[in-house]
Amino acid sequence: MIRVGIVGAAGYAGGELMRLLMGHEGAVLTKLVSRTHAGKSVSEVYPGFYRYDLPDFQEASVSELADICDAVFLASPAGAAWPWIKELTSLNPEIKIIDIGSDLRLKDASLYEEWYGYTHGAPELLSEAEYGLTELHSAKIQDARLVANPGCYPTATILALAPLIHFGLVRADSLIVNALSGVSGAGRTPGQGYHFPECNENARAYGLLRHRHIPEIEQELAAISKAGGYDGTVSLSFTPHLVPLNRGILVTGWADLASGVNVDIESLRETYEGFYEGKTFIRILPPDQIPQTKAVLGSNYCDISVRVDGRTKRVLVMSAIDNLVKGAAGQAIQNMNLMFGEPEDRGLKSAPIWP
Ligand SMILES: NC(=O)c1ccc[n+]([C@@H]2O[C@H](COP(=O)([O-])OP(=O)(O)OC[C@H]3O[C@@H](n4cnc5c(N)ncnc54)[C@H](OP(=O)(O)O)[C@@H]3O)[C@@H](O)[C@H]2O)c1
Repeated sequence: MIRVGIVGAAGYAGGELMRLLMGHEGAVLTKLVSRTHAGKSVSEVYPGFYRYDLPDFQEASVSELADICDAVFLASPAGAAWPWIKELTSLNPEIKIIDIGSDLRLKDASLYEEWYGYTHGAPELLSEAEYGLTELHSAKIQDARLVANPGCYPTATILALAPLIHFGLVRADSLIVNALSGVSGAGRTPGQGYHFPECNENARAYGLLRHRHIPEIEQELAAISKAGGYDGTVSLSFTPHLVPLNRGILVTGWADLASGVNVDIESLRETYEGFYEGKTFIRILPPDQIPQTKAVLGSNYCDISVRVDGRTKRVLVMSAIDNLVKGAAGQAIQNMNLMFGEPEDRGLKSAPIWP
């Protein structure tokens, strides 16, 4: 059994890790760290877990985690995880760590100052960490000790655009992505803009021009471009929107067809099917279907659909994920499975919830 600890266990991503890991027959929840709820049972904080056999929330103890865990998930805010990771790896060099936050995602440490407003105190970790977009990096994740679990918007956006960039079908400097997110994407900590009367029956853009996920998406798409034999030039305009859903991300992306490229929807779908062949959690939808958040709710699927607009010579690509599953805890468990030689879908087989 993989002995698992979760830091930030009482947050939404932590709660989803608990829910999914309770159905994982190869893992046991050993330590649930919460500073705010230390001493409480999990069901006092999440009533749905009443009568489930779980340890109580406890105060943080890095040395105890290092001693009793094989794997630790960090589900804490930006800038909070790197001190844990630094100490955990120095106390137990064998321990495997998956950061669901952003502290391992960017390869260039100076970008943390520019986009997140904090100084990364352990830049040496960044070169070691593998970017955990599972479908694109599974071989390297298998051997990784540190995994940077991707952000929710980056997961949906990169999976949607990757085949287009890899095969040079579009101009990678012409990417425009609009994305919708449910309110759980902002976490459990209350905030004015997430107060029910203000976000219910409302839709609004936020993070205009400067959303923190932009450098992460550009970094990864540039790597995909280079791996495909192109020059790695990527330019993305990205606008996220908050919509009154509990969960779900819907991405709509546009890109200009590269010069001389002539594709139709059938050939593009075949390209996507080939690129994601054998990837259980990626569903390339048939032409008569369009990704929707409810069709992936509670599941680890990413649904993708593509169209060619012959009139404007652009490609339209859409994707949908559950931000807390494929966008956070589900993908983190998918990565843990690979790191421990487990089947990739272990603990992640539940079908979406409808309605
Ligand atoms: N929500 C999503 O859809 C989603 C998707 C992808 C990635 N993420 C990322 O996952 C992380 C957690 O997100 P969330 O939505 O679960 O947030 P959340 O509901 O606000 O929970 C964050 C948890 O972090 C803990 N925490 C805060 N400061 C800490 C520190 N210095 N050290 C250790 N723990 C600390 C808090 O627990 P205590 O106060 O109880 O210790 C809190 O429960 C964030 O980095 C977020 O960007 C979230």
